[in-house]
Amino acid sequence: MSIEDLENVALAMVAPGKGIIAVDESTGTITKRLTAVGLESTPEIRRAYREMLVTTPGLKEHISGAILYDETIRETTSTGEPFPAVMRKAGIIPGIKVDKGPKPLAGFPGDVVTEGLDGLRERLQEYVKLGAQFAKWRAVIKISEDTPSSTAIEANCHALARYAALCQEAGLVPMVEPEVLMDGDHDLAVSYEVHEAVLRSLFSALYEQNVMLEGTILKASMVIAGTDCADQADIDDVAEATVRVLKSTVPAALPGIVFLSGGQTDEQATAHLNAINRLGPHPWPLSFSYGRAMVSSALKLWAKDTKANVAEAQKIVFARARDNGLAALGQWSSGK
Ligand code: 13P
Repeated sequence: MSIEDLENVALAMVAPGKGIIAVDESTGTITKRLTAVGLESTPEIRRAYREMLVTTPGLKEHISGAILYDETIRETTSTGEPFPAVMRKAGIIPGIKVDKGPKPLAGFPGDVVTEGLDGLRERLQEYVKLGAQFAKWRAVIKISEDTPSSTAIEANCHALARYAALCQEAGLVPMVEPEVLMDGDHDLAVSYEVHEAVLRSLFSALYEQNVMLEGTILKASMVIAGTDCADQADIDDVAEATVRVLKSTVPAALPGIVFLSGGQTDEQATAHLNAINRLGPHPWPLSFSYGRAMVSSALKLWAKDTKANVAEAQKIVFARARDNGLAALGQWSSGK
């Protein structure tokens, strides 16, 4: 696949007013989410839940792609067709999470590093055969008194860049995700400093590994005060700090940036994205790749009756997609 092909997929992922739905929770994480709403995490419940999400009628009006987890990309929907085929017919680009999760970084208590590079070339080739067009790798950066160390930042960004180069070799658009967690009592200024260090390290590592930025998407966290910080920044301050750090660290050659929701409420995630886009025009489209802020309300309703509530739950998914799609254009207003 040429760089032009990769660039075309990347541009389609961030088409105006469209974003991505993250349906790629690992089995451990999805089990937590399902248990929290009173469901048992069986393979069939997970399959049915993910089918409900990606077959939402009209989803492509506001959603360009969906990130799947390994078990889902191999499964079929209730019509007997593989998930990626059903999605492509519905105008949704199939993506796949390929990292193997964060593990403690030896020698640096509190820091983690994401694993999954061994055997990645072969796994990517298989995902391409299964129909994936982009991939995702999530690095986790924790803010505390002692973390993140510069070693943790470098180790994670090095792994992200190695992963991104392998993706492009395989013909997949890499979505590189260095998530700075919201957990902690740090304020907005600390979040800004950590984001700045992480993004500088990331783009230097991508350059060192010969990754073509034109065929890469950044999945970023917003610059936001820690959940336990007494001094919560208002929406416009979060938007201003987020745009400032991106402009000072991310090259304009990148086709687009999508945000994760990271534990923000539905309303916060949409309001922040909208405020960010109101500050535009920006050098890149700024859109969303939300998991929790796209699906949590729909999951609650679906859990009450997983057969009868499919259509109603899908209406909620559609409404979240529409609101976030409007926010990606800076055209959302609360209460609409
Ligand atoms: P959240 O939006 O729930 O943070 O999930 C997005 C994601 O894919 C994190 O890797």
